[in-house]
Amino acid sequence: MPKELIRLANCTMAFDGEVVLNNIELSINDKEFLTLLGPSGCGKTTTLRIIGGFQKPTSGDVFFDGVRINDVPPHRRSVNTVFQKYALFTHLDVFENVAFGLRLQKPALSKSEITSRVLEMLEIVSLKGFERRDSSSLSGGQQQRVAIARALVLRPKVLLLDEPLGALDLRLRKDMQNELKRIQQAMDITFVYVTHDQEEALAMSDSVVVMDGGEILQIGTPEDIYNEPVNAFVADFIGESNIVDGAMLADGVVEIFGRRFACLDRGFAPNEPVDVVIRPEDIDIVPIEDGKLTGTVTNVTFKGVHYDIIVDFRGFKWLIQTTDLSPVGTKIGVKIDPDGIHIMKKSRYSGMFGDYSSYSAEYDDISDADAVPEDVSVPEDTL
Ligand SMILES: Nc1ncnc2c1ncn2[C@@H]1O[C@H](COP(=O)(O)OP(=O)(O)OP(=O)(O)O)[C@@H](O)[C@H]1O
Ligand SMILES: [Mg+2]
Repeated sequence: MPKELIRLANCTMAFDGEVVLNNIELSINDKEFLTLLGPSGCGKTTTLRIIGGFQKPTSGDVFFDGVRINDVPPHRRSVNTVFQKYALFTHLDVFENVAFGLRLQKPALSKSEITSRVLEMLEIVSLKGFERRDSSSLSGGQQQRVAIARALVLRPKVLLLDEPLGALDLRLRKDMQNELKRIQQAMDITFVYVTHDQEEALAMSDSVVVMDGGEILQIGTPEDIYNEPVNAFVADFIGESNIVDGAMLADGVVEIFGRRFACLDRGFAPNEPVDVVIRPEDIDIVPIEDGKLTGTVTNVTFKGVHYDIIVDFRGFKWLIQTTDLSPVGTKIGVKIDPDGIHIMKKSRYSGMFGDYSSYSAEYDDISDADAVPEDVSVPEDTL
């Protein structure tokens, strides 16, 4: 049975009367890898700071292991933080950076205990043999691992990580994502991780918390969040989605563009207007006569493993991912299996996302640019 370790109960945070976290309810289990995911300014760092004790909520309570800790200062919480701008002590070597917090502990630890804990930690973050390296001589990923070792050597029950990979290049980010997951499992503790990168969140987390505008929209496993988004914002933020208007005719039957489609969703009112999400990889291209809908290919982009194609259905543009090439101008039919259709309640996000008209316009602009004649005159003052 998972055990709850941290709970934010009705937490609201306001700065000068402006609410930036609105009545947050969040439960974090022991040994869980939980990620706060959302766009810039949605309140991720503020939530982390409340857990760490750097910020007191304007109202609401914070519990740790069932005990209210609103008034417990950061250094008395069994929580440590790794910030995006991890400042290593550049005048100290790797060993001394990691040993720093241990040397301040009271009662004082023995020399041999400090040495064995630092070496054990360096082994866990794959930096064995780096003890005497100058910290300024390390690569970005190695520095990040020193910062993590420095936080973990104090044996917190929870590690808070605020966009710790933000400064690294894509390749290193991917390597570090695996490393972090491995470290969390090796240490067998709770990680609360903040990112605005949805791929990162899906790849690493046991639970993902999707936030927007100071509110939690959805909490679930990566699979839940991807397959069963609660509204158009979550569907759009996590992966690519076509989102269209529909009406639930009955349990398991939805109408889209005047056509009936079988789906797995039930429990809606008869003819209830809904948002329908169809992921680009769930649409099958078929001969026109076999298609439920027919459309015209307006753009094709080769992505390596598949093609991204934009298809115009009566002025509404969908993104389809397919391994078969359908050139621009081709008329195609499409089929969608019942489990490729996901129905969502209408929300304040309805109509804001999920149309790829602007996506294809980007490509139109590029081809327009190609068509600019070479002899276009340039005003002299710009030369
Ligand atoms: N000390 C503060 N005083 C006033 N406003 C603040 C303060 N801290 C945060 N805010 C505001 O609260 C909102 C949420 O900020 P927060 O840092 O939690 O966002 P975030 O989700 O971490 O964003 P990012 O991805 O850009 O780091 C923002 O509008 C921010 O300007
Ligand atoms: Mg932040």
